[in-house]
Amino acid sequence: MRREEKLQRFDVLRVDTNGIRSLFDRVGPRFYTRFFALTGYRSSLKYFWREHFARMALREGAKILDSGIGTGFLTVSLLRESPIPLTVAGVDFSRGMLAGLGRNLAEYGGENRVTIQLGDMRKLPFSDGSFDFVMTSEAMEYLPDVREGISECVRVLRPAGRLLFIATKNSPMGKLVAATWKNKVLDPDSVRSFMIEAGISRVETLRFPWYFKHVDATIMALLGVQDPAKCLSDQATQPSNFC
Ligand SMILES: C[S@@+](CC[C@H](N)C(=O)[O-])C[C@H]1O[C@@H](n2cnc3c(N)ncnc32)[C@H](O)[C@@H]1O
Repeated sequence: MRREEKLQRFDVLRVDTNGIRSLFDRVGPRFYTRFFALTGYRSSLKYFWREHFARMALREGAKILDSGIGTGFLTVSLLRESPIPLTVAGVDFSRGMLAGLGRNLAEYGGENRVTIQLGDMRKLPFSDGSFDFVMTSEAMEYLPDVREGISECVRVLRPAGRLLFIATKNSPMGKLVAATWKNKVLDPDSVRSFMIEAGISRVETLRFPWYFKHVDATIMALLGVQDPAKCLSDQATQPSNFC
């Protein structure tokens, strides 16, 4: 399928941002936790980090952002699996989900390691280049235009910082999850192109372990590096605050 056609498919999917926020406020924290615990996504993250942690190039004191942190599946599993102590900043626009995050952190004992801000992934409340590592999971597929979310991640990432993008992919399993959670499914090749256009290079696909094949069939995980060369060439042609 040609790229223009793929883009068109994104456009026809209407996203009602207020409706999404109220869905997560109302049913999110409890139903979401149960649903993704049942599908195995929650437990798969533990093994995902074990397999791929080294690729994230995280050091003690690294500045980490979870965009669309929700109840914190990704963050909590990272904090638990990391061999070094880490802290994470999280942004989400649903008070309900953030309340659920508070409960999850209290249960795990990670309250002092996560700072939370109410905010929109399309307008992150941070200045350019604030983070060494930006991650997002199962959240960007709620944006009317995923490119807005990706460029915000790139804006707040320092040169040579890493971006981990996890989202529901366009597959039969992905569509099943999307029907329940009113999200879009994204095409991995299109997302890869959007990441590259936004200034990310060396984009690689990370797989979930083979014993979580159904998770792999539902979800894409792409990792890339903020490309300082791309940022410098952008700055030469137009004044940019991205680098
Ligand atoms: C399916 S949950 C995923 C939560 C978390 N990342 C995880 O993997 O457990 C999607 C989250 O994205 C948040 N979200 C959706 N659109 C958003 C936006 N425009 N700005 C901030 N958060 C948003 C929702 O409130 C919800 O918490």
